Amino acid sequence: MIVIARALLAVLLLSTSCSRLRADSDADGHVEHGPGRATSHRSFADVEAWKKVFDAPERPNWQMPERVIAALNLKAGQAVADLGAGTGYFTIYLARAVGEAGSVYAVEVEPTLVDHLRQRAELEQLPQILPILASKDTPRLPPGGVDLILVVDTFHHLDQRADYLPKLAAALKPRGRLVVIDWKKEPLPEGPPLDHKLARDEVVAEVTAAGFELAESPDFLPYQYFLIFRRTDARVW
Ligand SMILES: C[S@@+](CC[C@H](N)C(=O)[O-])C[C@H]1O[C@@H](n2cnc3c(N)ncnc32)[C@H](O)[C@@H]1O
Repeated sequence: MIVIARALLAVLLLSTSCSRLRADSDADGHVEHGPGRATSHRSFADVEAWKKVFDAPERPNWQMPERVIAALNLKAGQAVADLGAGTGYFTIYLARAVGEAGSVYAVEVEPTLVDHLRQRAELEQLPQILPILASKDTPRLPPGGVDLILVVDTFHHLDQRADYLPKLAAALKPRGRLVVIDWKKEPLPEGPPLDHKLARDEVVAEVTAAGFELAESPDFLPYQYFLIFRRTDARVW
């Protein structure tokens, strides 16, 4: 009798915790921590499927990668990072901008994408691309060694950003920049569902709270905001 009662209790506890998991995370792995604090946890492991999305031939029409790179005013020989590099869409543009004397850390948490980034760098003969297998909670960038970190459509996937953003600041040189390009929180013909997106003001608030100031905000992208932050300890008085 006692054994049956214990078994029933175990089944009850298990089903309660499963439904709690379902309530916190939808089919796309979207997690709601409270107003404006959403994190999307979907998997990007399927390289062939995501190549069709990230490297779609029509993406340049709205992503305007050449204009984005020109707005960053990069110099040959600089060290930059593409955080959440995906299939390497922006990694390639960054690599051409900094040239062979520079370095591009292509940071990813998906081992399949890191492998793809290495193959793509070899195929495109861009040895300045250095793929990094990061952890969810640390970018594994060299401390104080990076001029600019570009984060395209990835900020809303980062967990525990109040702890994570200081790690990005620590990777930057004193005058280093953190650039966030992410989806405008409005219905759009491209991008994730509305509730996966973070409003521009929310991103500005989180990044400035972590020791950055908003230096520039070019407004030519139709679907994304484009925010260029600088470490505040880099201010020249
Ligand atoms: C929507 S994709 C954007 C890919 C690329 N930036 C682009 O614009 O094509 C987001 C990428 O961020 C990666 N990612 C998610 N969390 C990450 C983290 N904590 N550190 C590094 N990469 C992460 C995912 O694996 C995924 O490839």
